[in-house]
Amino acid sequence: MSNPARFDAGIAAAADALRRGALVGMPTETVYGLAADATSGEAIAGIYSTKSRPRFNPLIIHAFSIEAAMGLGIFPPLARTLAEAFWPGPLTLVVPRQTSAAIADLATAGLDTIALRVPAHPVARALISAFGRPVAAPSANRSGHVSPTTAAHVATDLGGRVAVILDAGPTGIGVESTIVGLTDETPRLLRSGGVPRDAIEAAIGRPLAAPAEASAPVAPGMLRSHYAPAAHVRLNAETVRPGEALLAFGEPLPAGAEQAAATINLSRSGDLGEAAARLFSALRELDGTAATIAVAPIPDHGLGEAINDRLTRAAAPRG
Ligand code: TXA
Ligand code: MG
Repeated sequence: MSNPARFDAGIAAAADALRRGALVGMPTETVYGLAADATSGEAIAGIYSTKSRPRFNPLIIHAFSIEAAMGLGIFPPLARTLAEAFWPGPLTLVVPRQTSAAIADLATAGLDTIALRVPAHPVARALISAFGRPVAAPSANRSGHVSPTTAAHVATDLGGRVAVILDAGPTGIGVESTIVGLTDETPRLLRSGGVPRDAIEAAIGRPLAAPAEASAPVAPGMLRSHYAPAAHVRLNAETVRPGEALLAFGEPLPAGAEQAAATINLSRSGDLGEAAARLFSALRELDGTAATIAVAPIPDHGLGEAINDRLTRAAAPRG
């Protein structure tokens, strides 16, 4: 993890930018976020326009501590259990919003629920602490693109429209936070992510349900086609066809790998954590090397569930 002292000047400048209503590229342990003052409707409007993000898609509010998060949402007992088990860390909880919460309505898309996360990354924590208020932060990519795991990815997608990008190197986890919905009796897995499902189920002692069909907001992160590179993505490739790029996992490589236009192995040793950390960079790198990226089968347990979720959306027919 990066040492926040190295970032003192940058963090002060970034906190000033947030106070002016400007946007900051903020490293977190999952992916880089596009941070703005969560209490300012104007600052939040800047996030939506910069990302070309639909305004009905609410944002995650990043707080410094469990106590600060509890001032913004109403935490039923299971939410407390999960907050204490996994915060700070790559978990987002969707809970009923406190009516008194000083969060811009635009950040929650006018919903009576709120998505809350206490990030673990020392630079994100230093920024939120210096700013002294919660920040709203979606992933710092153009809407529909692959999430950024380096400062260079943020600059490529959004550079020039962001006041400060804090460069803390590649993110450690590489896929977005797991989102758990706790707005009715049933805990629901709204998005797989950095905390594997089985760890959450073990902490609460019960299984996570699927999202409720009717009540789920139409969220691009949950749309079928999302996280999409320009290239076509072909999943569970047991063989590589001539001219395809190969996204491999473990060894041996699929048949025909020697004729791939380009190859990246997410983890030679078959480590899902390493694979998650490299996933989005690899998709960006392979994009443009071939018309199709063939993806080797990836086990669906642990972090594999989040990896396969993102790959399935990347492979879905475009709208
Ligand atoms: O790891 C992460 O979660 C990163 C880092 C920057 O924290 N952030 C991130 O944000 O992935 P974003 O905006 O790309 O994805 C947030 C997801 C969206 O799918 C949004 O619809 C959902 O959270 N969301 C936000 N508020 C919600 C709510 N009240 N109910 C249901 N879903 C919500
Ligand atoms: Mg996103």
